Amino acid sequence: EGNKLWGGRFVGNADPILEKFNASISYDQRLWEVDIKGSKAYVKALQKAGLVTQNEMEQILTGLDKVFDEWSKGEFKIKPGDEDIHTANERRLKEFIGDPAGKLHTGRSRNDQVATDARLWLRDAITTLKELALQLISTMVERAAVEIEILCPGYTHMQRAQPIRWSHWILSHAAALSRDVERLEDIRKRVNVMPLGRCIYNTEISLNFDRISINSMDATGQRDFVAEFLFWGSMCLTHLSKMAEDLILYSTKEFSFITLTDAYSTGSSLMPQKKNADSLELIRSKAGRVFGRCAGFLMTLKGLPSTYNKDLQEDKEAMFDTYDTVHAVLQVATGVISTLKVNQPAMEGALSPDMLATDLAYYLVRKGMPFREAHSCAGKAVYIAESKNIHLSKLTVEDLQTVSPLFDKDVSSVWDYTKSVEQYSAPGGTARSSVTAQIEHFRTWLQAQ
Ligand code: ARG
Repeated sequence: EGNKLWGGRFVGNADPILEKFNASISYDQRLWEVDIKGSKAYVKALQKAGLVTQNEMEQILTGLDKVFDEWSKGEFKIKPGDEDIHTANERRLKEFIGDPAGKLHTGRSRNDQVATDARLWLRDAITTLKELALQLISTMVERAAVEIEILCPGYTHMQRAQPIRWSHWILSHAAALSRDVERLEDIRKRVNVMPLGRCIYNTEISLNFDRISINSMDATGQRDFVAEFLFWGSMCLTHLSKMAEDLILYSTKEFSFITLTDAYSTGSSLMPQKKNADSLELIRSKAGRVFGRCAGFLMTLKGLPSTYNKDLQEDKEAMFDTYDTVHAVLQVATGVISTLKVNQPAMEGALSPDMLATDLAYYLVRKGMPFREAHSCAGKAVYIAESKNIHLSKLTVEDLQTVSPLFDKDVSSVWDYTKSVEQYSAPGGTARSSVTAQIEHFRTWLQAQ
């Protein structure tokens, strides 16, 4: 078909089935803005290189502005022959300005055009996602500051372990997310590289890239930066799925540690009493979706030969879907975290003296016993309490002395949750001072982002 950008050597039309299969316009139209931006910068470089005249450049720039206008007003009409965003924009440019449009593509291939577009798009996407992640972290940090007094059980293997501050739990998730933000910044370095203009001097093309790609074959044939972003999304949502899972559990009637606001819950169509944590369940689920995108795209890359192959067109849906998904999850997570209600009596009521068994061992350590032996003595005390069916704290000094003569009346001082928490004042601990230091750390860190 004569109209096609690449139609010269072809006789007859593509099979409509292939035409549809080959086209990416249905999704890559999201690149319309960066595609025009890239073309505007490119034509300026062509003019400097003497490949288009000043007048042709001006016509092309004006024409591109008209195309831009149509897209931004939602008036751009995609036509059946528009294979992808690059073809569509150039087709429309030609309709506006006629022949000079044909000069825009001098020395340019769609292969470097699409790589440029994807990089420009992802660069902005990274900025937006970073903003949303920072909002979430900041919400968590401020919540941790307000609720620093509240204690709750800490779990390992999902078994009751030791008392902690609720804020310590919140900040553990903020810590994971802060690494995701740092990882995102690191990816930006490799996204912000200019692949375009291998046939003219691309130093002339000003699109605010940090660097120019080092090798033209690599520039058009690699999508590491997309794969990295997909992994990033997978890791970030894996972190949020962990947080969601904790909160789903904490929101059950059996725990009752937290209640989601109605705004972030849904009901059951059958059972009127139900309030389901759908928001959290969906956060948990999206990690799987995004990981699927990542694994799928790596499969596409595996075994590809050098340079551009049409397989690479698969990068877009994976990239867009990951962006949209993480974008939504971060916002919902911020909503959930900022609105959930904490049930302090339930959290603190869930603490029990057996969670202080380690403290009982420390008591003996303070009296000079090696920790291994103290651990074993405290374990024996737990056993006795269990066989008497009483709380560990209800054992008499006499009971305890059957385990070790080092036990004395002052053992009663062990049975204090706040005191227990306060002994962990080393950096990263759950003592008030350590949690406050974490909050300060995150506040400073947030400022620096
Ligand atoms: N739509 C294509 C993509 O997304 C653009 C590049 C097409 N290049 C080509 N030689 N067919 O990758």
